[in-house]
Amino acid sequence: ERGGVLVVGSANADLVVTVDRRPGPGETVLGSDTTVAPGGKGANLAVAAARLGGRVSLLAAVGTDQHGDLLRASLRDAGVGTDLVRDDERPTGVAYITVTADGENSIVVAPGANSSVSEADVDAASHRIATATVLTCSLEVPLPAVRRAVRVATEAGVRVVVNLSPVADLGGEVLGALDPLIVNEHEASHLLAAALPGPPGAEATGPPSVRARRTARDLLALGPRSAVVTLGPAGAVVAERDAEPIMVPAPPVRPVDSTGAGDAFAGALVARLAGGASLIDAARTAVRAAALSVTRPGAQPSFARSAELGPT
Ligand code: RIB
Ligand code: NA
Repeated sequence: ERGGVLVVGSANADLVVTVDRRPGPGETVLGSDTTVAPGGKGANLAVAAARLGGRVSLLAAVGTDQHGDLLRASLRDAGVGTDLVRDDERPTGVAYITVTADGENSIVVAPGANSSVSEADVDAASHRIATATVLTCSLEVPLPAVRRAVRVATEAGVRVVVNLSPVADLGGEVLGALDPLIVNEHEASHLLAAALPGPPGAEATGPPSVRARRTARDLLALGPRSAVVTLGPAGAVVAERDAEPIMVPAPPVRPVDSTGAGDAFAGALVARLAGGASLIDAARTAVRAAALSVTRPGAQPSFARSAELGPT
C-alpha cells in the first residue's frame, strides 16, 4: 500500500565548535570544546519529518564506525525507518561546523560514505519509492542517485520535493517534476543566475518582501510545479502556478544555532504534505518548526516535536 515519506540524502556526524569569530586565512583562534551531534541534510530532514508523526524512511549510507552508530540511534529514536540506510566501507560523513554567538554557522563537509549513494541503491529501493506518498531529496549525495530517484517517483505518480541544498544543476526534466522546489535565497540567486546569465536586473531592487516574491515567481519560470524560498528569520515565500506568491512570516526568535534550520523547514513541510495539507498550510508549520530549531543547539537534537508546534 502507498504511504509515507521517503528521503534520499546524506547522514553526517556534526563536529561543532563555538567561536567568537571565524579565523581568516593563516590564522588560529581558540573555540569551545567540540560537541558531536547527528546531522547531515538527508538525515536531518528525515528526523524533522518523523518528529511531526507519520511514516518516514531514509535511504543513505554510513560507515561502520561510531559516527554511523550515532546517526542510526538518532534516526531510530525519531522513528525514522533505517532499513534503507546502508553500511559502507568509507567512514561516515563528517561536517566540521563553527557556530558564532549570533547563531550563524559555517560548514565544511567531508562526504565519506555519502559519496557512495548510487543509482544502484535507488534501483534496489525503487518499489519503496514508487509506493511512497512523497519522495524528498537533498543534495549532499551524488546527483545521479537523486536524478534516478526523482525519475522513479515521477513515473509512479509520487509527489517529489527537493531541497536543493547544496545547490546543484538538476536539469530541466527533474526541475519540472518538483512540487515544490525548496531553496534559500542564496541557492535561488545561484539557480537564477545560471538560467538567466547577465547582470542582475530588477530582481536585485525593491523591498525584501517584493524581491522575495519576485524570486519565487522567477523560479517557477524554470519549470517546477511550485517553489518555496526560505528567508531565514523572515520566514518563507510560497509560489504556486496561476497564483500570486504568498509570504509566510516566521515568529521572532533569539537565535542560538541555525544549523539545520533549512532541513527542519523541509522536513516539517513534507510531513504536512504527506498528511494531506496544502502547500501554504505546510509552509506555515514549516516556518514555526525551523524557528524553534534555531533556538536550540545542534541540528537533529534541536528539531521540534508535534506537541511543541500545536495544531496545523
Ligand atoms: O544543513 C545542515 C547540515 O549540513 C548539518 O547537519 C551538516 O551535517 C551539513 O550536512
Ligand atoms: Na538548531
